[in-house]
Amino acid sequence: MLDRLLAESLRARDLAHAPYSKYRVGVAILDEQGRIHVGANMENASFPQGWCAEPSALTAMIMAGGKRAVAALVTGPGPDIITPCGGCRQKLREFSVPEELVIIAGDPGGIRQRWTLAELLPLSFGPDHLKF
Ligand code: THU
Repeated sequence: MLDRLLAESLRARDLAHAPYSKYRVGVAILDEQGRIHVGANMENASFPQGWCAEPSALTAMIMAGGKRAVAALVTGPGPDIITPCGGCRQKLREFSVPEELVIIAGDPGGIRQRWTLAELLPLSFGPDHLKF
């Protein structure tokens, strides 16, 4: 499964639209039904209008009927390890159980490191906070 997630993440990364930063990012999300959804960063000539790879993949998951991300394999250009930005951690939080979701960092050389979302976003604010 990890091999498939890495291949799909790298495939998405190749489809990124990153002509400005040249920093291509791909994400492959495994949902609670065992299905894979991909996305890439989409930059824009009006720079602030661009968005990250994670919301692209999350949107694909939700549109396909997925409810919960259980793994997200993020690939960047390397050699530095890519970690999801702060805003993306919060977006992933919306559709996951933080102790369950495994975030895996990779690059064309393979898998580099992994964490749970709870490790990357401790004491997070989430949907349960609004159930009062
Ligand atoms: N980027 C992502 O797609 N995900 C992240 O978590 C970090 C940053 C993108 C945004 C921008 O297109 C490029 O990487 C450089 O910041």
